[in-house]
Amino acid sequence: MTVAHNSDIDGLRTEFGRRLRLGFVGGGRDSVIGSTHLAASRVDGLYELTAGVFSVDPAVSLGTAKAEYVAADRVYSHFGEMARRESEHGHGIDVVLIATPPNLHFPVATAFLENGIDVICEKPMTRNLSEARELDRLVSASGRLFCLTYCYTGYPMVRHARELVRCGKLGAIRIAEGELAAGDPGVSFEPENPDDRHWRFRPGTMGEGAILGEVSSHAHHLLTYIIGDDAREVSAELNAFVERREVFDNAYVTLRFGNGARGRVWGSYVAAGNDHGLWFRIFGDKGNLTWVQEEPEILWFKPIGGAATRLARGYDQLSDAADRSTRLRPGHPEGYILAFANLYSDFACAIMARKLGKPYKVFLEPLPDTLDGLHTMALIEAAVESNSSNGEWVTVAPLRKAPDRSVEA
Ligand SMILES: NC(=O)c1ccc[n+]([C@@H]2O[C@H](COP(=O)([O-])OP(=O)(O)OC[C@H]3O[C@@H](n4cnc5c(N)ncnc54)[C@H](O)[C@@H]3O)[C@@H](O)[C@H]2O)c1
Repeated sequence: MTVAHNSDIDGLRTEFGRRLRLGFVGGGRDSVIGSTHLAASRVDGLYELTAGVFSVDPAVSLGTAKAEYVAADRVYSHFGEMARRESEHGHGIDVVLIATPPNLHFPVATAFLENGIDVICEKPMTRNLSEARELDRLVSASGRLFCLTYCYTGYPMVRHARELVRCGKLGAIRIAEGELAAGDPGVSFEPENPDDRHWRFRPGTMGEGAILGEVSSHAHHLLTYIIGDDAREVSAELNAFVERREVFDNAYVTLRFGNGARGRVWGSYVAAGNDHGLWFRIFGDKGNLTWVQEEPEILWFKPIGGAATRLARGYDQLSDAADRSTRLRPGHPEGYILAFANLYSDFACAIMARKLGKPYKVFLEPLPDTLDGLHTMALIEAAVESNSSNGEWVTVAPLRKAPDRSVEA
């Protein structure tokens, strides 16, 4: 049994000599995801919440700051002012989290990048493909670091699945299937008054195909992350089941990957009775892998002609990638917050190593970045086009090549 959680943390922490100063835009006490980020950022003690515009509501923003011991003079009324003043502050933030609705991700990220501050950004990266291309360009032009929180990539058994594919355990990948099909009462009803509807269900937030960014992007991203290939063509059927709903609430997407593999993603808000409903199955010519987010400690490997193997987090035969992401002994479930925390700790190591003038790209290797965000946005555009032409195959806009992170600049 090994517990080798990111063995570089202690050395870097000692040499860096302080916690990273973290700012929040969004993620206040009125939000869904803010408390998850706060908890995840605190797991390894590498960040200190220092500044923010925590909410669109100034009272909630101040209340959140107060509860988290953030000084009142580090609470701002607008993200632009925050970016400028923090960059001028002698002890300004090192990194900002963007956890607003997606229509604000691009302007907020731009403000911080232009002021020399590294960025952690919630998915979907932007509202559309043109913003995504511009943000990708801005990140490389600014030279800042950027992490996109496709948080399920932080699970040790997801990282292990990726290693199994990389080392050829499944053989040539043929089929990749994923689902994120939720079905709780909160998403199965649309209020009569459009003003009472959630931003997720307003076409103004990111168009009619928002479900492909909000929901199915997690499933689709996991497939591309694990098999190391992007979808090049897509055929989609998108539907709106709920009365009065102005955006799609169910998405079937079929994929043709670059290496010849085929895939399928189901994203839904109307899978009545499902809780979260995220899982994947990946088939090569030698065997297959199955992982279910609600039982994240277990990865099933089934070789062709052999018995299924139940691989559990925390044991010695797993890959370094899984070991480095593991904190607790086997049988003590880790779960969602600690998976999320792995993104925070890898990104902190990258930021600290870089500021210390040390090799840092190795810490970015497991982390989703602007290329992952770009691919989601290209896929959404192609899927919406396919749906409006009766499911015809549409080419996903080509993207730039991924950099080789095994080579330090
Ligand atoms: N990674 C995941 O698993 C996961 C889960 C849930 C949400 N998300 C993503 O996180 C983002 C936020 O989602 P949520 O569900 O928390 O949304 P939410 O509506 O619950 O919260 C949004 C937050 O942003 C604040 N906000 C809005 N406008 C602002 C502005 N101009 N300045 C500062 N703050 C502002 C709101 O006050 C609130 O605190 C979305 O992009 C969503 O897709 C990701």
